[in-house]
Amino acid sequence: MKIFLDCSDPELIASAYETGLIDGVTTNPSLMLKAGEDPMHVIKEISAIFPWNASVSAEVVGETAEEMLDMAQDYLEIGPNITIKVPCTVEGLKACRELADDDVHVNVTLIFSTAQAILAAKAGATYISPFVGRCEDNNINGIELISSIKKVFKLNSITTTSILAASIRSIDHINNSFKAGADIVTLPPKIFEEMYH
Ligand code: E4P
Repeated sequence: MKIFLDCSDPELIASAYETGLIDGVTTNPSLMLKAGEDPMHVIKEISAIFPWNASVSAEVVGETAEEMLDMAQDYLEIGPNITIKVPCTVEGLKACRELADDDVHVNVTLIFSTAQAILAAKAGATYISPFVGRCEDNNINGIELISSIKKVFKLNSITTTSILAASIRSIDHINNSFKAGADIVTLPPKIFEEMYH
């Protein structure tokens, strides 16, 4: 059972890391925009907070797998704890396959269905990120989605892809994601603090 922070603020992350309860970080382009700095610089700072075997997800953007792979190379030079985050699209999964074949950890994001989770696992993803909150925005039960993915992975002995529950907006989302079989939950620092109370 792991907890990641969904955040791009190195100071907040460093302070939460001191609790000894944080296993990694996920970032995304909107969080990067909020940080208002060069994404490469921000990821470098975050990566330095964690040991080599933690996971810091840096999201690549691009129209093609090649563009995503180019951007991934720059992030990968930062350190061994970098996980490359790609969207669950045809091009994103092509990039995932290539990275996984080179032993790079990949987080396939924007998962809204069990079918997408299956494709991502086939593409060699280390993590798949079902979006609990955004599923709810679209009248999809995000918690049932996690249960369904868990069941499929268990029945098919998929042990190399972890379920990383994302788009978390409440304590209930955290509890129910873990109850449904998520291996990891990534949460904003504010919700992490709420967990204590
Ligand atoms: C994490 O990897 C995702 O980028 C994040 O949880 C998305 O959250 P949001 O739906 O609040 O943007």
